[in-house]
Amino acid sequence: MYGEEPSAPALHAAAVFRAAKARTVLELGAGHGRDALYFARAGFTVHATDFSATGLAQLRDAAAAQGVAERVTCTVHDVRTPLPLPDASVDAVFAHMLLCMALSTKEIEAAVAEIRRVLRPGGTLVYTVRHTGDAHYGAGIDHGDDIHEHGGFAVHFFPRALVDSLAAGWSLDEVHAFEEGELPRRLWRVTQTVLG
Ligand SMILES: C[S@@+](CC[C@H](N)C(=O)[O-])C[C@H]1O[C@@H](n2cnc3c(N)ncnc32)[C@H](O)[C@@H]1O
Repeated sequence: MYGEEPSAPALHAAAVFRAAKARTVLELGAGHGRDALYFARAGFTVHATDFSATGLAQLRDAAAAQGVAERVTCTVHDVRTPLPLPDASVDAVFAHMLLCMALSTKEIEAAVAEIRRVLRPGGTLVYTVRHTGDAHYGAGIDHGDDIHEHGGFAVHFFPRALVDSLAAGWSLDEVHAFEEGELPRRLWRVTQTVLG
């Protein structure tokens, strides 16, 4: 659905991660891996997770075909559960359009707390989410908690206050507005760093 080319946020994140001297990248909601594969080709060691085993199987095959299999690990994981990684074990985390899936605010808060736990001090999180300025915000079935279902697809549209509260205790480095796709989807790309 999202093609083979890396997303614009992944291109940006790779530059941010490189500047921070990151070597390991955890990608959550990696899908079929357009961005995980790009990070691996760029030299990072990548741990890709998604709750879709099908997407990760495609990712594994593509990693082998692209000669980067030794730098890519895939784990089926639902972001509503604790991450299967030790504390302070990764340098960087990337999540493009995952946290705005049909997750409650409590589940999003718990996921970001888990990301904080597995990032090393000074580690960087880059995530993107559709926000309340999106054309589909308020359209379709209202499930409450800023979750709206349109065409059978439920999205948690982020208000700015949620971005700010998720960054409490972090350094919030950037909130960048951008558009993607034909609707277009209106998103924020958020960069935040673990203090310390
Ligand atoms: C909008 S797609 C984006 C995929 C990928 N990041 C990209 O940009 O190509 C959202 C991805 O999140 C995954 N996902 C949705 N809910 C999830 C959950 N609770 N736990 C883990 N993955 C989830 C889906 O399987 C899908 O691959």
